[in-house]
Amino acid sequence: MDLQDKLQALLKENQKKIEETKELDDLDKIRVNLLGKKGPITQVLRGMRDLDATERPKVGAFANSIRDELNAALDEQRETLRRERVARKLAKETVDVTMPGTPVRLGTPHILQQIIDDLSDFFLGMGYQIVDSYEVEQDHYNFEMLNIPADHPARDMQDTFYLNKELLMRTQTSAAQSRTLEKHDFSKGPLKMISPGRVYRRDTDDATHSHQFHQMEGLVIDKNITMADLKGTLLAMAQHVFGADREIRLRPSYFPFTEPSVEVDVSCFRCGGKGCSVCKYSGWIEVLGAGMVHPNVLTYAGVDADVYGGFAFGLGPDRFAMLKYGVDDIRSFYTDDVRFLEQFHKEG
Ligand code: PHE
Repeated sequence: MDLQDKLQALLKENQKKIEETKELDDLDKIRVNLLGKKGPITQVLRGMRDLDATERPKVGAFANSIRDELNAALDEQRETLRRERVARKLAKETVDVTMPGTPVRLGTPHILQQIIDDLSDFFLGMGYQIVDSYEVEQDHYNFEMLNIPADHPARDMQDTFYLNKELLMRTQTSAAQSRTLEKHDFSKGPLKMISPGRVYRRDTDDATHSHQFHQMEGLVIDKNITMADLKGTLLAMAQHVFGADREIRLRPSYFPFTEPSVEVDVSCFRCGGKGCSVCKYSGWIEVLGAGMVHPNVLTYAGVDADVYGGFAFGLGPDRFAMLKYGVDDIRSFYTDDVRFLEQFHKEG
């Protein structure tokens, strides 16, 4: 067999071997064995020494073409294997976009927070500022400044947790009234504020009371504020919360820090005033306390009570939520039972 036949046979045999190779690593091994220094091609080329000078270039060119073909075969198979590997990987990583997703459980603001947020928006829209005040409060601001001295009987209804003789858990957001009044600069305009937050009282241990609940204080002080302003404001608020057809009615009441003082009733949103179990067949539901700010409260805070005056109100988001959604136990708001809280899912 002459050299050319040998080379031709080498090509045939190895082309087949290359085509059958399934691993890239094996392909590399074949390349090294076939074309390396000790490989058959090199051997053949070495044998050219024994050839005629006229034969040498012909056989040399032929050997080179065989080597090129082998290289081409190796490259081609390498590319084929690489493609197959990518295809296998892609097949394995296929995502079925029609599979149902893992449901994401959405939380929602607590219903009391929703009520506070809604009322805050309402009052912000009427030009009120929102004041954040202290839950741990001084006796001074919670009582004294509100015209409730140490021996005043109004304190009986507002027993609370005392941290010491002077510090207590505030019993009413009214404590924010005097703090805001003291700071307000009336030369810059009237004072219009709301102050929502937690308040604390001795638990009377029934379903409508809790040792902790919420209030939202409202305070408006300027020149020439009248009770008509108070009534108009509370009517707008009641209609916003309980429906556009609501009416309100003011009944005389007593708070040491307002004079006159009123309890505010709203016409029943369930029966429209005819009488039902929600309004205890009276047609009216008591929703909050309010009144014209007592001159003493202004004077104690350094505001001239002969020039300035206004109104204050205190409403209870817990009570609003209970009325609006028919919740019969205030403690449901504080026991964090998701099944209860989920009912008040806020859309969007
Ligand atoms: N602070 C009073 C209460 O807790 C409510 C109130 C606030 C009444 C403001 C009048 C004015 O009962």
